[in-house]
Amino acid sequence: MSQTYQYNRSQALFERAQKVIPNGIPGHFNPVVQKPDGSYPFYAQRAKGARFWDVDGNEYIDFMCAYGPMILGYNNPIVESAVREQVQQSDTCTLAPSVMVELAEFLVELIPMADWAFFAKNGADATNMAVFIARAATGRRKVIGIEGGYHGSSPWMQAAGRAGITAEDHAEIIRIPWNDVSALESVLQEHGNEVAAFIASPYHHPVYQDNEMPAEGYWQSVQALLRKHSVVSICDDVRCGFRIDMRGSHEFFGYTPDISCYCKAIANGHPLSAIVGSDAFRKEASTIFQTGSFWYSAGPMAAALATLKELQQNNGPEKIIKTGAKVFDGFQSIAEQAGVTLKVTGMTSMPYVRTEHEAGIEFHQALCGECTRRGLFLTSHHNLFVSAAHGDEEIDRSHEIFKAALETVIAGF
Ligand SMILES: Cc1ncc(COP(=O)(O)O)c(C=O)c1O
Repeated sequence: MSQTYQYNRSQALFERAQKVIPNGIPGHFNPVVQKPDGSYPFYAQRAKGARFWDVDGNEYIDFMCAYGPMILGYNNPIVESAVREQVQQSDTCTLAPSVMVELAEFLVELIPMADWAFFAKNGADATNMAVFIARAATGRRKVIGIEGGYHGSSPWMQAAGRAGITAEDHAEIIRIPWNDVSALESVLQEHGNEVAAFIASPYHHPVYQDNEMPAEGYWQSVQALLRKHSVVSICDDVRCGFRIDMRGSHEFFGYTPDISCYCKAIANGHPLSAIVGSDAFRKEASTIFQTGSFWYSAGPMAAALATLKELQQNNGPEKIIKTGAKVFDGFQSIAEQAGVTLKVTGMTSMPYVRTEHEAGIEFHQALCGECTRRGLFLTSHHNLFVSAAHGDEEIDRSHEIFKAALETVIAGF
């Protein structure tokens, strides 16, 4: 087996970064938080298709897809050419761009529950706006969410007790367990006339835990309760959006929210989020205050139009779900032959994968680290992501790397 990767340039850059950037790398891949034991590179140099290269020149087949935004492959020629064409005309400008209207029309046509759409930059912008609209529409303050559900880094959504977050930030948030209709019923019985919205992703994808599908009839019972208590149903489709169903992941699970939030994959890596909703909330969507320095940026909107058309024409979600099944069925049978159980939960287009081992998460972390050091980029805390650019060559090579990494890890435990 080839030698495993070295990260000398990444390390040197990280030392420089720590002097000028808190923790050297903010966000998801902050090594001070992740403690990655030397298995991971820190900085990327370039990316193409389903692969990226780090600053040491190491090549990876990427099953994190930038934590979701990459869906058609990095540097996709169709998307990039649409962006170039648009920004040559105009990008961020004093007036809103015409492509914004085209994109809103496209989304309203594509997503059956959507009668309107508007745009922001991050997933958190979208979920915030959705809650503003729900509060404006109902005149109520409280929001029900799911324990372990993530909707962005705004104060009300962050885990309680985190640095900089106050108890007041959470005062109006009620968390209930996933798939628990009676918990929802009791909260609504007690607080029904104070609750503006229920926000949840279409299925439950917390970090460090097996992902959970909705139980049979869950969404239908939830929707009935929300209607009974006039509570706005917000679908946070930021992570799943366009990896399950082009019409919105709620369609796949057979329910109709009032407002839906998209981001991640919508523009194949260009910064854009979208809030869509039904006519019943059009008035409030037009009265809440919503703006941002770059919210009129036209390039990402052109990227979104190109991305969504490409996915639609090629049955993107269906294809990615099938690719994911091939990848992870393969991992499971390799693991089984080696006497290890590999659990794969959630949709195969974005599954949470973990090994069941008496050493607990450490075994799986070591496995992800060994895969990464051989060119198959996996993480242990978060669901993985599959893209339309992952083809047979990447699948076969991923299986080879996974097998070699697993043998090494087994030998060390
Ligand atoms: C389900 C969900 N909602 C909202 C967000 C927040 O998106 P952003 O990080 O773009 O603000 C995320 C990000 O991971 C997410 O997974």
